[in-house]
Amino acid sequence: MNALKIFSGTANRPLAEAIAAHLDTTLGDVTITRFPDDEMLVKINEDVRGRDIFIVQPTCRPQNDNLMELLLCIDAACRASAERITAVIPYYGYARQDRKDEGRVPISAKLVANMLEAAGASRVLTVHLHAHQIQGFFDIPVDHLLPEPVFTEYYRGLDLKDLTVVSPDVGNVKMARVYAEHLDGDLAIIDKERVGGGEVRAAALIGTVDGRNVLMVDDMITSGGTIRQAVNLVKARGARDIYVAATHPVLCGDAVRRLKESPIKEVTVTDTIPLAPEAAALENLKQLSLAPLLGKAIKRIHKHESVSELFLPKTASEA
Ligand code: R5P
Repeated sequence: MNALKIFSGTANRPLAEAIAAHLDTTLGDVTITRFPDDEMLVKINEDVRGRDIFIVQPTCRPQNDNLMELLLCIDAACRASAERITAVIPYYGYARQDRKDEGRVPISAKLVANMLEAAGASRVLTVHLHAHQIQGFFDIPVDHLLPEPVFTEYYRGLDLKDLTVVSPDVGNVKMARVYAEHLDGDLAIIDKERVGGGEVRAAALIGTVDGRNVLMVDDMITSGGTIRQAVNLVKARGARDIYVAATHPVLCGDAVRRLKESPIKEVTVTDTIPLAPEAAALENLKQLSLAPLLGKAIKRIHKHESVSELFLPKTASEA
């Protein structure tokens, strides 16, 4: 396999730079501009013939632009005879619609997978998919990383005693169990109910949080509704300090206000998505970088080495 080259779209250049730095390299030279009518123009300014290309681009807001940019970068690399093209998508947008749960709706996550393959992606490296089954929407290899080792290392450092890990909905229980095992904590689960219009209700708590420190783990904070309800419920049930760890800081709508008003000691997120400027108002927000984890994965993919030990949970029946 010829030389590895990492390129970045415009969605999260600081993360791409940090990944490149971790690999002792610099980002490849690509120009992304606009035609006068706003259509995008991508130009790779260096030879990529026969190279192993990694294009870093989360498909976060503005989702359509970021997705189109990624597709154009892949197409450009493909037509420039790159040997292999890996789409590094730290946040996979359009993941919510992963099935037809009512009539006459698209399966957007599958459509995006089709588009990436049609553009010429050889493989995908992604982080904490909203539904892990989205891997199966691709007919090319998908490496799916989870940030649990990064969060676990951080929380071990805080040395939290009397800890209960709380899953704010039943969909996340297996993952929460891994955190509980790795942090020597108990497990509690919230039964979340969607009550329409994007509003949620934390209906019931299974487990005990009275007098316990709580770590709540989720894949993303979008509107902040889920976390607000869950935090209020565990507080009402006697929780002491409440920590929240969420992989993707989507933080749209009222999310920042909701987090600010909630009795949370600290919110920890990763850098899969750049933080929105309004997040600066959250003094208790901490961002952990996944650049080393992604860098290690890229290195292993490039060298045809196993990636699985980076992402396979060691306990809880392989969450
Ligand atoms: C739900 O299935 C997810 O794991 C998250 O809990 C949810 O997407 C968060 O959304 P929001 O912040 O809008 O409640």
